[in-house]
Formats: sequence, structure tokens, C-alpha cells
Amino acid sequence: MVANADISKAMEIHLGALFDELPPMPDFRPGIRRAPARHFNLSQKDTELALKNALRYIPGKWHQALAPEFLDELMNRGRVYGYRFRPAGAIKGQPIEEYRGNCIEGKAFQVMVDNNLDFDVALYPYELVTYGETGQVCQNWMQYRLIQRYLEELTAEQTLVMASGHPVGLFASSPEAPRVIITNALMVGCFDDPENWHRAAALGVANYGQMTAGGWMYIGPQGIVHGTYSTILNAGRAKLGIPPDQDLAGRLFVTSGLGGMSGAQGKAVVIANGVGIIAEVDHSRIQSRLDQGWIDQVTESPAEAFTAARECQRKRRGYAIAFYGNVVDLLEYAARQDIQIDLLSDQTSCHAAYEGGYCPQGISFEERTELLRSGHARFRELVDASLRRHYELIKALAARGTYFFDYGNSFLKAVYDAGITDICRNGENPLDGFIFQSYVEDIMGPILFDYGYGPFRWVCLSGKDEDLAKTDRAAMACINPERRFQDRDNYIWIRDALKNRLVVGSRARILYQDALGRMTIALKFNEMVRNGEIGPVMLGRDHHDTGGTDSPFRETANVRDGSNIMADMATHCFAGNAARGMSLVALHNGGGVGIGKAINGGFGLVLDGSTRVDAVIRRAIPWDVMGGVARRAWARNEASIETCIQYNELRRGADHITLPYLADEGLVSDSVNNAFAKASRR
Ligand SMILES: NC(=O)c1ccc[n+]([C@@H]2O[C@H](COP(=O)([O-])OP(=O)(O)OC[C@H]3O[C@@H](n4cnc5c(N)ncnc54)[C@H](O)[C@@H]3O)[C@@H](O)[C@H]2O)c1
Repeated sequence: MVANADISKAMEIHLGALFDELPPMPDFRPGIRRAPARHFNLSQKDTELALKNALRYIPGKWHQALAPEFLDELMNRGRVYGYRFRPAGAIKGQPIEEYRGNCIEGKAFQVMVDNNLDFDVALYPYELVTYGETGQVCQNWMQYRLIQRYLEELTAEQTLVMASGHPVGLFASSPEAPRVIITNALMVGCFDDPENWHRAAALGVANYGQMTAGGWMYIGPQGIVHGTYSTILNAGRAKLGIPPDQDLAGRLFVTSGLGGMSGAQGKAVVIANGVGIIAEVDHSRIQSRLDQGWIDQVTESPAEAFTAARECQRKRRGYAIAFYGNVVDLLEYAARQDIQIDLLSDQTSCHAAYEGGYCPQGISFEERTELLRSGHARFRELVDASLRRHYELIKALAARGTYFFDYGNSFLKAVYDAGITDICRNGENPLDGFIFQSYVEDIMGPILFDYGYGPFRWVCLSGKDEDLAKTDRAAMACINPERRFQDRDNYIWIRDALKNRLVVGSRARILYQDALGRMTIALKFNEMVRNGEIGPVMLGRDHHDTGGTDSPFRETANVRDGSNIMADMATHCFAGNAARGMSLVALHNGGGVGIGKAINGGFGLVLDGSTRVDAVIRRAIPWDVMGGVARRAWARNEASIETCIQYNELRRGADHITLPYLADEGLVSDSVNNAFAKASRR
């Protein structure tokens, strides 16, 4: 058998080389949120396997000491996090020049990883969860330490390979290849379900990357503020008859969740000048949003919440109220009192409802955390009962004119999983969708994604406020607000971004843009880096985008040619971005809707001011978006067809997209009717 001493000798990068002695257990800072226990249910044999797996990172001399500690973490917290290897104190994305490295990308990705684990940014920083209840940068602190070392060593001739949080190693590549390739939780089809994932995660072989958590591109709740703002504003225009040049003045939006992404809802509704009541069961999350100034008022009383809302609606003043309590209780009150809610949604973590993402009615947040540890079967029953009641209330409110939409958190699917089949359009299963639409199906898909507008973002790696202000101004100058109403909204967004104080963590900005808009802005930024006007910039996007994600439950919900159960687009997007020289490419299972329900990918591109990067921008950024628009055009989405027609014209000789011929509906139905009639006569 190979000896552990020989294994150590065969690697230059390993924990034994990083630590002379076992590091002390760091203190856990009071007030920092901790992940709930992840329901330990491994068999004895699997527990042995999980322990052996975790010890793979550990030099043999420390196995004796760490075996009981890792076992304790596994059995009591559901995972081996390796807390002992976490750096003491706060982690923050520092200015890039403070990191060591052999290439700019190696240093830049250290900024991004650390920002994803910042106490102010991450949901459960000690458990490496950035957002979305379970979305992790990587699985454990041993991996974090190795990733950091690999990024320090990485050269412009190498690629770091990351498999579900595990750094497989550095491999020779070329300056044109990605510096980092990441996959998370890609499971073999017949095992691609939450139960098998839960086991694999406990065994330490699967990481839930969500989207930008495991793709190292999270920029705090700002990342979602723009999308939320666009969604509710356009919901108002599409469903409440608000004209395109007006906002949500006087309108009431009721929802839940003030967590990682959902925490954007208060800020977004105020920017859209509407009034929001957001239910949240965890007071610490309300406090974070209050401290940021993203919430104006907190109350435990539904009556007080609705009275304050009514007053602000009357004054047509933007205002965000946190209701400290369960959303189902809030809706019970609204239904009983016959209160008119204009827009209604939900952003609890229903993609992981049984893992703690949805707090059932009737128990407090603290009781939920305890029950997750001590009575998982009971917890599931309570979640199901609460979701059924939640659904009844939504139905009652919708019958009185409230517009309800699923906010991409798998809420409708969770209700179906709780036993409600009448939520399905076909009354049986989700194949034909649900009776309520998702926000992508109804709003974001046709109004934004079909044109290629999506959550483009950047991080000023210098950490300087003035760099962010300069990039904001430069991006604004690239937008023509007269072209479409979407451009006008985006122009106003970036014009007011600084004033709206959106930054949490690294100096970052989100701006919805279409393919060529993103390319123009990226080229401008790279020129500014080249001229020394600003420091280097990290470009990226949310996976939740036109071309980045295949999910019939969300991003591709408005793809209606039957291909919404296919994941070819996201896979091509990932591969095409790698082939075109993005600095980082990522592909994940799950994302915002849960394991088996989405394949999603993203990228990172470090702008270093070089002409090489100019060339990458020109070939990769349009591809990243237009692959998605092409797929939507092929599904006969009208705005996408129009966008592709213009694109083929503009990019003649460079790109060429296949477009669908449109069949006459009458011809099709007559032909099929006749054929079926003939067949039935046979
Ligand atoms: N719409 C989008 O664009 C989008 C983007 C990202 C994530 N999501 C999805 O939205 C969900 C939320 O994401 P997140 O990052 O905010 O997750 P999160 O877990 O950080 O936040 C959810 C919040 O809901 C609260 N909550 C749970 N049950 C509740 C209840 N019954 N009543 C009131 N509050 C309750 C939790 O305490 C938590 O703070 C996830 O499913 C995520 O995948 C949507």
C-alpha cells in the first residue's frame, strides 16, 4: 500500500505544507448566523466512507486527532466543514494587490472567493454558504485553503480544475484557456435527485454551488436588486395597467424572505417607488437589512404593517416594511381583512424546503432549527401542511384580483410536492406548468431574456469607490435610453446606482444589458484599465440569464417548443465560453430551483487592459448571450426572432444564427385533426 509519507512527498501543495502544526479551533464570533444541522442520515458504512473521504485532505500524522472531530461535525451538523482550517476572524475581498499570485487571474479569483465568504455578504459564513440556504463556495475549509494556495501558484499557462468544491489540481493549458474551470453537483441522470444529492453532500463528494456562490461571482444582494426591480416594475406594467413610463407609486407588493437574494426585495420596491411588506421569520436577517437601510420599518403586527403600507400608498411614497413573522400568518390576516394586495410573491428558499429553506406556519425560526436536527420527519409534515395553507390563501387573494407570481424559488413545485396536484395546469403533474405563472414565464422571459437583457456585472478589483463611480459613468454613456423602454429603465438604474447605496462587500455593480450592450461596456472598461484610469475589473454575470441556465421551472419557463426539459443550451454556453477564452467558466446542477431542476453556468473575465482581452470580449461576450437568444428564437419567441434577425445583419461574416420558419396555426391544426380523424376511422 502507498504510504502517506510518500503521498506528502508527491505534492507541493497540501495542508501539511501549509501548517507546521494542527491549527487551533477558531472562535465562532457571536451574532454570525450558523447553518442549521443538515439532517444526518448516513448508514454506518457510509459514515465510515464520509470520514475517510474528509481525511483525504489531511496528512496522516493528524488523522488520530481529527477523526473524532470530523465525525462529530458530520453527525451533529450533517457535514464535515473542517472548521479548524478556517482562517481566524473576518474574511474580506481585499484590494487585488494585497494577494499573492503568478497571474492577475489567480489574484482576482482570490478576491472573489473571499468576498463570497465575507461576514457581511455570506448567509452562513462559517459553513461556506454564500446564499440560498445551501449555496456554497466549496464544501469545507480544507478545500478553501487548497484553492487559495492553488490560485497563488496558478500561472497564465495553467488551469485550475474544480469538481464540486474539490480542487482536482493545476493542469497545463495556454493563456487563451480559462484559468479556472468549475463544476458543481453534476450528477448522473438516474441519481440526479435531492435524496442522492443529500447523501453525496454528506459523503463530501457533492457541492451545491447555487449559481454565483460556487461560481465565485456573488456580489451581495445588489446582484438581484436590479432583476427584482425590473420584475416588479414590469409586473406592474403588464398586469396592473401601469404605463411604460410610470412606476409603482401607490401599489402594494407583499412577499417573504429577507435573506441572501430575497433581501433585495425591500430595496427594489422602494427604487420602483412602490410599497412592500416582506415577511421574514429570522430576526437577524431583518436586522442586516435594517442596518443597510434597505428596510424602513419593522413590525410584528400584520395590522400595523398594512396600516403603514396604506398610508405610504396614499402618499405615493416608496417604502419597505419588514413583518417579523411567518408569511402565511401575514396572508391569513390580509385574506380575513379583505386587504387589496396588488402584487404577491414569495422568496423563501423553497428549492430546499425540507432542508430548512421554508419555515412552516405555527413554529418559530428557532423551533424550526431545533426540529431540523431532532425531528426531520415531523418537520417535513409541518412544511407540507404550511405550503398547502399558503397555497389556499394565494388562491383566495388571486380570486380577488391580486397578481401572484412564482419568484424562481420553486414555490409552485414545492406546493405540488406537498401533495397539491390541482396546482398543475393539467391537474396531474408539472409537465405543462402550473396554474400560476413564474416571473420568467410571464415577465422576465418575454420582456428581458428574449432580447438578451440579463444580469451583467462587474467588480472593481482595486476596491476603490472612485473606480466604481467611473465605471458607472462609463456604462451610462454606452446606453441609448431612447432605443427601447428596457434601455431607459437600465439607464435610470445605472444613473441612480451610486445614490441608491447598493454595495455590500466588494465594489461591484449589476446592470442588465443585452449582448452588444455588454460587449460595448466591457471594451470601454478594458480601455480604461489600459489607460490607467481604473484598476483591473472582473466581469461576470448571474447564471440566471438568457443563455446561462436551462430550467423549465425558471429561466427557460417561456421556452415552449418542448425543449425546456433539455440542458443543451447551458452546456454549450459553458463550453463555448471556455473555447473563447473566458478567465473562469462554471457549470452547476440545481441553481435557484433545486437539484435535478436546472443546469446553470456562468463566467468570469478579468479585464487587464490588454488587447488579448479585447479580443476575448469581442468573441465571448456576444456568444454568451446570443446562444440563449438563438435558442429562444428557435422556440419561436417573437422578440428573440427579431433580435436574431438584427444580429445576423449586424454580425454578417462573423456570426450566423439559424432561424425558424413559422407554420400557420390553422394549417397545423387542420392537418393534425384530419390525420387523427383518419387514424381513428382505421
Ligand atoms: N428570483 C430570483 O431571481 C432569484 C434569485 C436567486 C434566488 N432565488 C430563489 O429565492 C429563494 C430565496 O433565496 P435567498 O438567497 O434569499 O435565500 P435565503 O435562504 O437566504 O432567504 C430566504 C429567507 O426566507 C425566510 N423564510 C423562510 N420561510 C419563511 C416563512 N414561512 N415566512 C417568512 N420568512 C421565511 C428565511 O428565514 C430566509 O431568510 C431561493 O429559493 C433562491 O433560489 C430567486
